[in-house]
Order: sequence, then structure tokens, then C-alpha cells
Amino acid sequence: MSLTRLPSFRLHYNLNNSCSIIHLIIFIHFFFIPICHPLSFSMNRFDHSATNIIYEGDAAPNSGVIELNTPSYCRVGRATYAEPLHLWEGSLASDFTSNFSFTVDTLNSTSFADGFAFFLAPVHYPIPPNSNGPDLGLFNATTRFSSQNQLVTVEFDTHYNPEFGIDPAPGPHIGITNKTISSVVHANWDPFLYSGKEGRARITYNAATNNLSVFCTYDDSNAGNYSISLLIDLKKSLPEWVTIGFSSSTGLLFERHIIRSWEFISSELRRTYYDGEFHLPLFRWVWHLYLEGNLLDAADERLEMDFDQNEMECLLIVGLWCTHLHPRERPKAGQVIKFLQLEAPLPKLPHIMPEYPMRQPQQQPQTDSS
Ligand SMILES: *[C@@H]1O[C@H](CO)[C@@H](O)[C@H](O)[C@H]1NC(C)=O
Ligand SMILES: *[C@@H]1O[C@H](CO)[C@@H](O)[C@H](O)[C@H]1NC(C)=O
Ligand SMILES: *[C@@H]1O[C@H](CO)[C@@H](O)[C@H](O)[C@H]1NC(C)=O
Ligand SMILES: *[C@@H]1O[C@H](CO)[C@@H](O)[C@H](O)[C@H]1NC(C)=O
Ligand SMILES: *[C@@H]1O[C@H](CO)[C@@H](O)[C@H](O)[C@H]1NC(C)=O
Ligand SMILES: *[C@@H]1O[C@H](CO)[C@@H](O)[C@H](O)[C@H]1NC(C)=O
Repeated sequence: MSLTRLPSFRLHYNLNNSCSIIHLIIFIHFFFIPICHPLSFSMNRFDHSATNIIYEGDAAPNSGVIELNTPSYCRVGRATYAEPLHLWEGSLASDFTSNFSFTVDTLNSTSFADGFAFFLAPVHYPIPPNSNGPDLGLFNATTRFSSQNQLVTVEFDTHYNPEFGIDPAPGPHIGITNKTISSVVHANWDPFLYSGKEGRARITYNAATNNLSVFCTYDDSNAGNYSISLLIDLKKSLPEWVTIGFSSSTGLLFERHIIRSWEFISSELRRTYYDGEFHLPLFRWVWHLYLEGNLLDAADERLEMDFDQNEMECLLIVGLWCTHLHPRERPKAGQVIKFLQLEAPLPKLPHIMPEYPMRQPQQQPQTDSS
């Protein structure tokens, strides 16, 4: 059950029907309990036996690492996580961090191409035909500049393609692309200097600030680190569910692209309510509305006021009661049903908001799980 289906939910039920009560309980559950589809994994080696990575094109596990493509002409390869990421829904979006270590090996040649990318794309997004060379296995000559693409990538582009007019800088770069093949922001990068060496990248998306940031470093680096960021609302560029993974290609020149480890964590979908200076998680926001006497505003947004006001008020108050700090003080199932059937008087809620403990004090103060 998903929030997007809630607007069609109607409260005009015969509440003696037990099925309707189950619906109400599901409603309370989704209104007051965080919607939970976080993804979290950590892989330090990649084996043939594992089923959590999907290999396409040339990509294959090899001695514990992922070889994205064979080092020869016009190849493509892709390794994606088998489960999709629930990136957003309605106005809720997920934070995530993707850390990985990688090696680009230019094979001692000063002429090499084309690079690899960490990407987010629609689930089951296939390798497009003719996507080798500069297209990194994600685009092709037809789709490169199309704003119809639902693709966001962090590209490690090892080859400048002036002939296509697609690269932002005259030289290899780390960049963030939005929909099209061209980087919106980039940092110049020297894959030849670091050929064969292990780089570590950290890609972080903060859904509250829309900040997609990339940090890349090499262990034996004195030359510096690479750091870029882009304020981007991923809800506008990507579908709600996405596939995440790595893609690479070669063209008339080639190189090896290796992924050595990959850690990923996404948050629950978060929603923040802006209240003057404070962003509020959902249940605090409902508390505020209750204390202000505007409780029905909470329902308005999702149900467009198409409900019985008494029933809705009752539902929200029971919902707030269910957030009581002490489990023993929360209503029993039988009581909930009596309230929802409007058979018992509503519980008396305190006139101040309970002091809910902050669940994730290390998180940025303006976000909180809803
Ligand atoms: C590249 O050169 C280094 C040092 O000269 C050597 O150890 C390595 O095997 C060479 N790699 C390839 C792919 O030829
Ligand atoms: C590019 O890929 C699309 C499908 O994604 C396909 O329809 C189109 O023909 C391809 N273009 C080329 C030049 O291969
Ligand atoms: C995004 O976050 C990074 C890392 O926290 C920070 O360095 C950068 O300044 C932020 N970017 C923007 C555009 O706010
Ligand atoms: C690069 O980042 C690392 C942290 O990962 C830091 O220890 C190092 O000092 C940075 N190097 C430079 C040159 O800024
Ligand atoms: C990303 O692309 C979408 C669709 O073209 C656009 O609406 C949005 O402003 C772009 N965002 C950035 C940060 O470039
Ligand atoms: C990613 O790396 C950073 C810094 O190296 C670390 O703080 C963070 O916990 C890592 N995240 C994951 C999901 O591994």
C-alpha cells in the first residue's frame, strides 16, 4: 500500500464492517508511521554466487571485483543492485549515500577511453543500442540530449569528446549529469595519473536541501581530492523507484573499469513541515495542528477534504494517541475500534506536545523521520 493511493481512500464506511476497520488501521499506520523502504548494503567483494548484483553487457565479477567491461574496442558493461531504490513518493524523498572504491586502468597507454558512471535510472532500464564510446552504456546518439531521459549520473569521464560537443571541459572530468549526457557541474580529473590506483568515491544526496554531492579521493594522493555538488530535486529528474549501479564503455580507445567495493544506505522517506524556523516531522506537525485547533488541515492535503469531518477528527486524535510515549498508555485495538465507530468518547489528549526524544540526533536538525 502506498501513499499515492491514499487520495482515493474514502471514510464513508459502514464501520461495523471489519474490513473497513482494517482499512482505517492501515490508514493510521501510514499516516503516523514512517514509510519504510530504506535500502542498505555493504559489499567488499563480488562473487559469481551472489545474486544481489545484476551483470549486463561485459560486466562480470572477477577475483572479488567487478570488471565492468573487457578492455577492448566498443564495449559496454553494467552492474546494478538487484533491488530497486524507493527514491521518492509524493512530497517525500529519500536521502542516500553511495560509497564505492574503483580503479581505472589506462593500461599504460596515454590514449584511453571512455569512463564509467554511477547512475540512477528507471527500474529495468536496458542498455541502449549503440551506447558504447562516449555514451557510457547509458545514452546513444538519439537520446544523448533528450530531456525525456530519466537518468542522473555521476560520471568519471576519462575522454574528452570535442567532436560531439558533449563535454563541459577540455579533458577528463568527474561530473554530475541531469537527464542528458552533459555534466551540469564537473571537476577536472586525471585518470592517467591515478591509473591502476584505488580511488574512493562518496556520493551523498540530502533530500531536505536537494544537495547531491560527490567526493573522491585516492589513498596515496597528495595531488588533492575531487569535490563537486549540485542542488537538484531528484523528484523532477527520476521516477519514484530507480535502479542504481555502475555502467562503463569503451570506443576506439579503451581501458579497464573496476569496482572494488560498494556500500549504500538510504533513509526512510522523509517529509519536513516548515513551521517558522523549524522543520517538523509528520506527527509533530499533526500535534501542532491539533493544539492550534486546525487538526483537519492534516487530512486536507492528502484527501482533499473529501471525508466526514467527525470521523476524520476522531481518526487523527486516535492516531496522535497512538504516538503516546509510553506504549502502555496507547489505546488497545478494541478501544481504537470503539472510538472509530464513534461509540466511545474521544480520549483526552494533553494540551502540550509530549517531549518526543529525537530519534537521530546526529542528523541535520532540519530533517527528521516522519
Ligand atoms: C604498466 O606498466 C607497469 C610498470 O611499468 C607494469 O608493472 C604493468 O604490468 C603495465 N601494465 C600493463 C597492463 O601493461
Ligand atoms: C538509441 O536507443 C533507443 C532506445 O533507447 C533506440 O530507439 C534508438 O534507435 C537508438 N539509437 C541509435 C542510434 O541506435
Ligand atoms: C552540498 O554539500 C556539500 C557537502 O556537505 C557541501 O560541501 C556543498 O557546499 C553543498 N553544496 C551546495 C550547493 O550547497
Ligand atoms: C583529501 O581528503 C582526505 C580525506 O579523505 C584528507 O585526509 C586529505 O588531507 C585531503 N587531501 C587534500 C590535498 O586536500
Ligand atoms: C534537471 O533536469 C530537469 C528536467 O530537464 C530540470 O527541470 C531541472 O531544473 C534540472 N536540474 C538541474 C539542477 O539542472
Ligand atoms: C561513506 O563514507 C563515509 C566517509 O568515508 C562514512 O562516514 C559513511 O558512513 C560511509 N557510508 C556508507 C553507507 O558506507
